[in-house]
Amino acid sequence: MEYKRLGKTNLFVSRIGFGGLAIGGFHYGKTQDKESITAIKKAMNLGVNFFDTADIYSFGKSERILSKGLGKKRENMIVTTKVGMRWNKKRKKSYYDLSPDYIFEAIEKSLSNLKIKKITLYQIHYPDLKTTALDTMEALNELKKGKKIKYIGCSNFTPAEIARYQRYGRIESIQVPYNILDQKAEKNIFPACHRWQMGVIAFSPIAQGFLSGKYNEKTKFNKNDRRNKSKYFTLKFLKRSKPLLEKIKEISLRYKKTATQVAIRWVLDNPNVTCIIIGVKTPKEIKEAVGAAGWRLSKKERNELTRIGKKIIS
Ligand SMILES: NC(=O)c1ccc[n+]([C@@H]2O[C@H](COP(=O)([O-])OP(=O)(O)OC[C@H]3O[C@@H](n4cnc5c(N)ncnc54)[C@H](OP(=O)(O)O)[C@@H]3O)[C@@H](O)[C@H]2O)c1
Repeated sequence: MEYKRLGKTNLFVSRIGFGGLAIGGFHYGKTQDKESITAIKKAMNLGVNFFDTADIYSFGKSERILSKGLGKKRENMIVTTKVGMRWNKKRKKSYYDLSPDYIFEAIEKSLSNLKIKKITLYQIHYPDLKTTALDTMEALNELKKGKKIKYIGCSNFTPAEIARYQRYGRIESIQVPYNILDQKAEKNIFPACHRWQMGVIAFSPIAQGFLSGKYNEKTKFNKNDRRNKSKYFTLKFLKRSKPLLEKIKEISLRYKKTATQVAIRWVLDNPNVTCIIIGVKTPKEIKEAVGAAGWRLSKKERNELTRIGKKIIS
């Protein structure tokens, strides 16, 4: 496993992080809780120390299963969750809320779900335009003082939002989508992170599974799988992406790696990236992801993938 310092914190995170979005079975089709727990244990055995979830993931179930999987080791792991995205049951829609009242309510729920005393990294899930950055940061700073959280992180922020929130406290990291098919973060987010010395946590490293190359025209997702609405899993996109999937395959054979490992390696080989979080359902998936650590693509190979990926999304 490779480890890297997260921004200016004293955390050395495994560059392969465990993503908890699929756990609980609400967002990525059905999952088996037992299998999720085994996958978490497997991850720890393989040197993964960075575990990401959110209070909204399967409405708290992802946090609860993560806690079960980590077991007694949970206080020694880097446990990260998120706050600020809520669910309107009646309208079946999510909405943003970073009001101090909600933050103080949500932290107690997350601590109880995770069964831990302190959350290592508490991340703002999305900015909320109804609450001022000052109010949100004052509430988060208070949680830090009260030792309920160690560090504050953010997610899905623009550079302007980073600057606005950084005025009122220290934000250590950001979560951004970044993969061969989504290179937008390079333009504005990475320079902003460099300026503020923030860690970069790249999510969707294999484009929701697409870059593994295991899906085809006949793939049918479960009813509650977010990929039914994803830009990646359309016939048109699948056709367009063929040259990229072929190039990934070609490179993977050269290194005796899998397509998934090559796609993750492409993300890790950007020096701005601290770590990736991959959405994991099974022990097999995390084992494969860990195989992306400990080697590198050549500059030429990475450039080729970058160029082909850019052409597809342009
Ligand atoms: N901050 C945010 O707003 C935000 C947004 C999205 C995600 N995230 C975080 O980032 C994590 C990852 O992002 P993501 O779920 O969007 O995308 P991802 O990691 O690129 O894709 C996850 C999907 O890929 C498939 N997969 C996983 N390992 C695989 C392997 N070894 N081989 C082949 N397929 C594999 C799994 O689905 P199948 O097994 O069904 O194929 C899995 O659900 C999430 O779990 C979450 O923690 C954060």
